[in-house]
Order: sequence, then C-alpha cells, then structure tokens
Amino acid sequence: CDDPRAEAAAAPTDHDRAEIIRRMDWPALERAVAVCDACRLARGRTQAVLGVGDRNAEWMFIGEAPGAEEDQRGEPFVGQAGRLLDSMLAAIDLRRGENVYIANIVKCRPPGNRNPEPDEAGACLPFLRRQIELIRPRLLIALGKVAATNLLGGDASIASLRGKVHSYAGTPMVVTYHPAYLLRNLPDKAKSWEDLCLARDTMASLPPRPD
Ligand code: URA
Repeated sequence: CDDPRAEAAAAPTDHDRAEIIRRMDWPALERAVAVCDACRLARGRTQAVLGVGDRNAEWMFIGEAPGAEEDQRGEPFVGQAGRLLDSMLAAIDLRRGENVYIANIVKCRPPGNRNPEPDEAGACLPFLRRQIELIRPRLLIALGKVAATNLLGGDASIASLRGKVHSYAGTPMVVTYHPAYLLRNLPDKAKSWEDLCLARDTMASLPPRPD
C-alpha cells in the first residue's frame, strides 16, 4: 500500500499553491478562480466572482465577499451596496470600469451573507494578491473591516484605521466604511466622504506609476 509519508510529501502545501498563483497570468487566474475548491465556500456558489473593471486601473477597491446578486451575475457590487459604491466613485470623479478595478477578499458567496471565516479568506488571498500584482494599482481602498483587517492583519476597528494611509504589499491603502454599512448608518456617510477626499489627495500626491 502507499506510504502516507510519500503522499504527504507530494501534496501541495499552501505555500506551493500561493507560489503557483503568483506565476499566473490573467487567463490562468480566471480559470483557477472559476474551478477553485480550496475552501468550503466553493460548495455554495453559483459562480466565483473574480472582479470587474480596468485591468490597468490606478484605483482598486476591495470589498468583502459576493452577495446573492453578485453570485448570480458574476460581478462584484451589483446590488444596493454596489449602487452606493458607484455614487462614492462618482463623488471623486471615478466610474466603474474606467481606471477603477473592484474585487473582494473572497471570490465565493458565504452562506447567508455571513462574514468570510479566516481560513476562507486565507485560502482566497493569494488570488487577490496576484490581481494586485497584475493590475499594479497606485492606490487601494479597503471597504469595511473585513477587507481592511484581512489585508492589514489584526482586528482594529474601522474608526481606528480610517484617516491614515496604510500599505498592503507595497501599495498605499486607505480604509473606509463598507457601502452596506453606510446604507444602515447614513450619518457615517460624511466620514466616508472624508475618507474619499483623503484617497483623492493621496492619489494626487503619489509619484507616477513606472511603466
Ligand atoms: N459586498 C461586498 O463586499 N462585495 C460585493 O461584491 C457585494 C457586496
């Protein structure tokens, strides 16, 4: 019978998998995300939602996870929260798809729209990291605590993370509220406007992207 030690040695580790993903181009990444079964979220999805927008964008917005409408349509932020995100983009003269790319921490819809578990986010993060490497955005905007804490580590509140410029994998990052939170907490829209102004000013102060 097979030696279990040999089998364990041959099984790809998380590190091997992340290294394979780090070498993917867009077509390979699209295929890998579409058939991914690295975590339990794969079992409940209609389809994986890779991201949407300009693959040469300077701006990259990162949310949490697809919801029911996103799972059906295969595009991030197409529901009510997505319409608010489009208004937030318009407030700083941006439009979905034009110099903007939108993705999520996890590519598959969590059941009942719960937050992704740490192991689910951990399994999916290599895909997002590769998207960031391929797009080379000048600025990341983390939408909400799930996005911010999965990228930055720790468990800090949005209140303590906003108002500063952070960095993820060498790319500057601003943190703001998730649009779904803002729909439930309208007074905090003013704070998110301040965050968008910080993002716009930060972008204006960054050196041009090297070609
Ligand atoms: N909320 C998210 O974080 N992402 C989506 O794609 C939709 C809603």
